Amino acid sequence: MTGSGEHSADRVAKTVAQSRTTTTELVLPNDTNPHGTMFGGSLMSVMDKCASICARRHAGRVSVTAAIDSVEFTEPLRMGAVLLVEAWVNRAFTTSMEVEVTVMTEAIGSRELHPANRAFFTFVAIDHAGRPAKVPSLQPTSDQEQRRYDAAGLRREVRLYLSGRLKLKDAALVGDELLATLQTKDLH
Ligand SMILES: CC(C)(COP(=O)(O)OP(=O)(O)OC[C@H]1O[C@@H](n2cnc3c(N)ncnc32)[C@H](O)[C@@H]1OP(=O)(O)O)[C@@H](O)C(=O)NCCC(=O)NCCS
Repeated sequence: MTGSGEHSADRVAKTVAQSRTTTTELVLPNDTNPHGTMFGGSLMSVMDKCASICARRHAGRVSVTAAIDSVEFTEPLRMGAVLLVEAWVNRAFTTSMEVEVTVMTEAIGSRELHPANRAFFTFVAIDHAGRPAKVPSLQPTSDQEQRRYDAAGLRREVRLYLSGRLKLKDAALVGDELLATLQTKDLH
């Protein structure tokens, strides 16, 4: 179901650059666990906020987190670390958007960046009554953006299947090989 109050001008395709969002964070004692490294939930909060701003910039509406997947904590983040968080829209669907978020740590002297975390967030735009509302489509403007756009379509089908929201027979994009593998496993 999609919300009311939609204006056609709101749905003109947007580019990735129009909503790309970056934030810089300092890891403070309140964010850390007894080992002196950042608590995973605190990092997810920083990422969720950055992704949320990105999603509402694309949608032009308040957008809520519907799902988070493929979260990878690749490096412990120590107290005092400087984090560069970046979020961009990979693809917009009807009322939902896939937002990719990366976190890099910045070395003190050289300011060299090291990847620390990456995740895919699904946001849903909502209207004043909290109902899902249509979002503008995304127009890729480079090969990389096109690859991310295509991959987001596949991930969406896998994500909706894993959450029990999509039957495998209705997964139009996921290839036969992946489909056959999934069909041999009873995940629900
Ligand atoms: C997100 C929410 C608005 C979806 O409502 P809903 O009634 O399930 O809406 P629909 O079934 O119409 O789905 C709307 C969109 O969400 C997507 N969606 C819903 N659940 C999803 C999930 N688990 N994973 C991925 N996408 C999902 C649907 O695919 C659909 O996308 P599309 O319109 O682009 O095709 C509703 O579940 C909600 O308000 N959740 C709470 C959000 C929140 O508070 N987040 C913060 C957590 S603290």
